[in-house]
Amino acid sequence: MAKNTLSITDNRTGKTYEVAVTDDTIKALDLRPIKVNDADFGLLAYDPAFTNTASCRSAITFIDGDNGVLWYRGYPIEQLAEKSTFLEIAHLLLHGELPTQAECEQWIYEITHHTFLHENVKKLVEGFRYDAHPMGMLVSTLAALSTFYPEAKEVRDPEVRRKQIFRLIAKTPTLAAFAYRHSRGLPFIQPDNDLSYAGNFLNMLFRMSEPRYEPNPALEKALDVLFILHADHEQNCSANAMRSVGSSLADPYCSAAAAAAALYGPLHGGANEAVLRMLNEIGSLKNVPKFIEKVKTGEGTRLMGFGHRIYKNYDPRAKIIKQIADRVFEVSGRNPLLDIALELERIALQDDYFVKRKLYPNVDFYSGIIYQAMGFPVEMFPVLFAIGRMPGWLAQWQEMLLDAEQKIARPRQVYIGHARRDYVPLEKRGSAPQPERKTARAAT
Ligand SMILES: CC(C)(COP(=O)(O)OP(=O)(O)OC[C@H]1O[C@@H](n2cnc3c(N)ncnc32)[C@H](O)[C@@H]1OP(=O)(O)O)[C@@H](O)C(=O)NCCC(=O)NCCS
Repeated sequence: MAKNTLSITDNRTGKTYEVAVTDDTIKALDLRPIKVNDADFGLLAYDPAFTNTASCRSAITFIDGDNGVLWYRGYPIEQLAEKSTFLEIAHLLLHGELPTQAECEQWIYEITHHTFLHENVKKLVEGFRYDAHPMGMLVSTLAALSTFYPEAKEVRDPEVRRKQIFRLIAKTPTLAAFAYRHSRGLPFIQPDNDLSYAGNFLNMLFRMSEPRYEPNPALEKALDVLFILHADHEQNCSANAMRSVGSSLADPYCSAAAAAAALYGPLHGGANEAVLRMLNEIGSLKNVPKFIEKVKTGEGTRLMGFGHRIYKNYDPRAKIIKQIADRVFEVSGRNPLLDIALELERIALQDDYFVKRKLYPNVDFYSGIIYQAMGFPVEMFPVLFAIGRMPGWLAQWQEMLLDAEQKIARPRQVYIGHARRDYVPLEKRGSAPQPERKTARAAT
């Protein structure tokens, strides 16, 4: 019978080692005994950007990129987007199960009753320049919440953790809305606890002089689904930041601020903004074929919103978002950029260049167009992503804390700098011979 092991022969020494294979994975530490002599540190795995390294065992989200599959706790994203609500999904991600009726009511009650911010947070937001990017404001104010809840540092205490989880899910939309209102020079709007999570967010963003804000049900539903689609995506850059900072036992506000900072980058949460810029540049339907040709010859940019590191069939979130677009445009009027996007997609999906490389629309291809039609300025796009992703970050953080195999995240390195050399006084610099540079040396 085949053994679940891997035999490795070290050709430097002629020795053979047998390491266990579990879940199609070997433990990097099992490579350490592979040495040329006793003084050798042992073999390391080199994996910049963690492209082939599992940093944890996780039961939260499953992605099968070849087949366009995304599950939260085993439930397909298509079913969740159609039938569930964002707060129910937050419960699912954090607790592992969909809530019962009673659990659901309690969960929604707790989150709804933690939406208000301390008055001093307002002063903090007011301190930002009028043109401050809302994502910079969100990152800062998330970290600032840590100073209002000093007990949050007791991360090993389940009751304390529970409370901060409510607060972070509840207060992130309020922070986001305050950042938006500040950039518009508008007064802050307090949360309305009689509204849904998405409805209240729209209220805090867009309410003007009306005594009671009534969110448009189609937009409220669309926003809720968009939050669901962004709620988790396993070990991406920001989830990794959340786990890494959290592994030092920093409080969850500081860890969430780090995760939001990671999300801010254009390679992560900023791609839908690039899609909008591209569509604006194309300008009209007649320019689409020329643009595609330029993408193919490499003269122009890439086709933004197409392709994905993991999804090589289609991004299941993109399909759902396309359906939401129709419902949003019925209310907001059609975004003229949609026609350009549809034509790009139509041509690209038939073109050999894109078909051969397995390039399909990703989540960002349509989300920016929808957000714009809903009235969000481009700078708010990554903020919306952060609101949706908060339960995912918290679930990843909690799972990391409860995992007995985890400890402070601390990668190794292959040192490629100078060999030891002695300090040279200033007056002698420039003439002192430098020791030869060593090419590579593993960590010790
Ligand atoms: C997402 C992305 C970074 C994934 O990249 P990746 O998995 O590392 O794939 P590669 O960069 O190795 O690309 C593989 C091939 O497809 C091509 N390609 C990938 N994405 C492309 C795109 N959007 N437009 C045109 N060509 C693309 C590459 O030029 C390369 O072609 P080659 O084999 O002839 O050199 C990439 O598809 C991309 O830049 N997309 C546009 C940006 C975007 O939408 N990002 C949001 C992701 S959610």
